[in-house]
Amino acid sequence: MHNGWGAKHLVKFATSQIVSRPPRLLAVNLRHPTKQQTHVVHNFNSGPSVLPKVVFEEASRAILDFNNTGLSILEIGHRTPLFQAVMDEAVALIKELMQLSDDKEVLFLHGGASTQFFQVPMNLLPAGATAAYLDGGTWGTKAIKEARRFGQVHVLGSSADKNYSYLPHDWQVPAGMQYVHITSNNTIEGTQQHEWPNTDAPLVSDMSSDIMSRQLDFNRFDLIYAGAQKNMGAAGVNLVIINKELLGKAERDIPAMLDYRQHIANGSMLNTPPVFAVYVCMLTLRWLKQQGGIAGIEPINQAKARLLYDALERLPVFTPTVAPADRSLMNVVWVMQDPALEAAFLAECKANGMVGIKGHRSVGGFRASLYNALEMSSVEALVALMEDFARRHG
Ligand SMILES: Cc1ncc(COP(=O)(O)O)c(C=O)c1O
Repeated sequence: MHNGWGAKHLVKFATSQIVSRPPRLLAVNLRHPTKQQTHVVHNFNSGPSVLPKVVFEEASRAILDFNNTGLSILEIGHRTPLFQAVMDEAVALIKELMQLSDDKEVLFLHGGASTQFFQVPMNLLPAGATAAYLDGGTWGTKAIKEARRFGQVHVLGSSADKNYSYLPHDWQVPAGMQYVHITSNNTIEGTQQHEWPNTDAPLVSDMSSDIMSRQLDFNRFDLIYAGAQKNMGAAGVNLVIINKELLGKAERDIPAMLDYRQHIANGSMLNTPPVFAVYVCMLTLRWLKQQGGIAGIEPINQAKARLLYDALERLPVFTPTVAPADRSLMNVVWVMQDPALEAAFLAECKANGMVGIKGHRSVGGFRASLYNALEMSSVEALVALMEDFARRHG
């Protein structure tokens, strides 16, 4: 071998790394200070984002030794019974947690939610037919743009006039729509859909940023998609839940990798699935089940959001940007009454271990993402800092 590294030497080197790592890795408490850290980290990132500590610990162990097999989760074949069991458990947990009826197919696909922006119309929208889209935020706008490549789009309503700081209401779905597409939670602008249309057209929803966070009748939806990297796991995998009866009507030649029917027929293993990302999803779903499922986590999410919105209402230094009826429980967005104070508040957040709190560049100000795994203590710490800041600058 080149550079004088013999194969034996390499193996020995790799083994010594593995042997020396477990105690160190497992000793790290990911939410509490290590020797290098001087304070607790509060992770308000919008995605990829905070996951439960037990998931990090279990996933770390599986990288070194998956289920006592002596193999890393990163080196097992996706067509082995070992991985099939992971995929089966992940699918079963989705069905159980969301109480899905038997006609729903659960897929784990690649390409992120952005791929669904075009995969949905490619599979469901014949050329010349029309789909209805709600333009309630940046991600919905992107979905509309992609759908127009395949057919016609009827925009049900738009809140672009006020930078998507509210959701359009009082819209009706016209007859003859191929499907209706709604983003359930607008991650960037901090709005969340709280009412759903009464329509005969199939209902499609991008639930990337609030999947598994609140109870809904998920069987009312004909297609749900969500990138995993917020409430469900690591980046790299995309959940798609689909009613099979919708398929086969688009009348176009769909490349195999983009054809839902092929993924269904192959159990999400048409090609190599993102093995580790599916595994992390499975661990996160197991954790959610232990929390009492969606019914267990929802009141905690409500309490976290209430605490923060109450502070924003109470402290005049801060101004929430979203209309009260449309506020998101997952992404809370605000600006400072005096924009000159933004840099100082951001610096104090940073000094107190609060990461990911800066607002998206299209909105400015601040955004705190309060996903399932974010602990109440992090919101309490943020609110305590806000109160203290308001006392000094009010
Ligand atoms: C609601 C929503 N849809 C779509 C996306 C795009 O997801 P991805 O980066 O996985 O393509 C995001 C990303 O944050 C999102 O929040």
